[in-house]
Amino acid sequence: MTPSPTSPGATAPDATAPGTRLTIRRPDDWHVHLRDGAMLRAVVGHTARQFARAIVMPNLRPPITTAAAAAAYRQRILAALQGSEAAGFTPLMTAYLTESLDPAELERGQAEGILTAAKFYPAGATTNSDAGVRDLAHIGPVLETMERIGLPLLIHGEVTDPAVDIFDREAVFIERQLIPLLARHPGLKVVFEHITTADAAAFVAGAGPNLAATITPHHLHINRNALFAGGLRPDFYCLPVAKRERHRLALRAAATSGNPKFFLGTDTAPHAREAKESACGCAGIYNAPYAIESYATVFEQEGALDRLEAFASDFGPRFYGLPPNAGSLSLERQDTEAEAAEAVPVALELANGTDHPTRLVPFHAGEVLPWRLV
Ligand code: DOR
Ligand code: ZN
Repeated sequence: MTPSPTSPGATAPDATAPGTRLTIRRPDDWHVHLRDGAMLRAVVGHTARQFARAIVMPNLRPPITTAAAAAAYRQRILAALQGSEAAGFTPLMTAYLTESLDPAELERGQAEGILTAAKFYPAGATTNSDAGVRDLAHIGPVLETMERIGLPLLIHGEVTDPAVDIFDREAVFIERQLIPLLARHPGLKVVFEHITTADAAAFVAGAGPNLAATITPHHLHINRNALFAGGLRPDFYCLPVAKRERHRLALRAAATSGNPKFFLGTDTAPHAREAKESACGCAGIYNAPYAIESYATVFEQEGALDRLEAFASDFGPRFYGLPPNAGSLSLERQDTEAEAAEAVPVALELANGTDHPTRLVPFHAGEVLPWRLV
């Protein structure tokens, strides 16, 4: 099979024999939580060793609401990288939208090359979202500015109305917030982040070219049963929460469809093991260590390995108006039955510059994934 013209040497789509290599253009992660301080130092290398660029979420405490704060955070991220990693990794910064944000701040941040996008958290929807926006209609001037200057709006798409069942909050968000938003701002570029439902996938596919979506590896692998398999499983808890099986199947169809509106965004969201395994465990799945392997597994299972590169490396930059990466990344198929097959560790103890390592449970803990990063 000849490699496609856009591909630096992709192998045949049915190449599942052990030892087979799959080489794709170097991917980007369009949605990551890198945190700060010791956690940042513990986790950033996992993202940087796979991805050339990453859209970095601003939900720190306090949130990143100014261009200056984003620039300082970018410096801390680069400083946390070890040696050569820093040269090959570009953090793309975002601002956290609040109801009091001055639109001029976004304009300045974009003009200075600091801000790539701005993030909407519905107030109270998720981790560190208290300072978020209660209603998108409250920030009209900010959205008008973003529409005018072409700064993408990244959306956590869930209503926070406690009367709405948690499994319905994304679908209700489409009706109550997203449709009116797109009608008010037809020129605004919007990424519906980490979609979890068939409703969202169908809505995005049917909308105009200004609306795209990211899809996480975990929402492609698990449905809501995983949260309760044999007991309460905090490592599978994230927001938006995983939905029914039919939704997972719709997400897999969307991700592997070749439709450029769907692209890679892991939503890797590390929380220390203690914070997950608690009476009130934090939302977030730490999938960064094996992210590309996790996606490759899904694409193989769907018979769509030849579409992995477009999803991981082409459609995201195209939507953001950025050039595709020049480098490549290779995966190798391992024999999952062999004794030598490498499993994902059940827990990670990561160095972070302090005397106490950061303890995290990675997504796929204990599983043998068919593909390994070379
Ligand atoms: O599961 C999640 N974790 N969802 C979010 O929206 C935020 C994230 C985090 O920051 O932990
Ligand atoms: Zn997120």
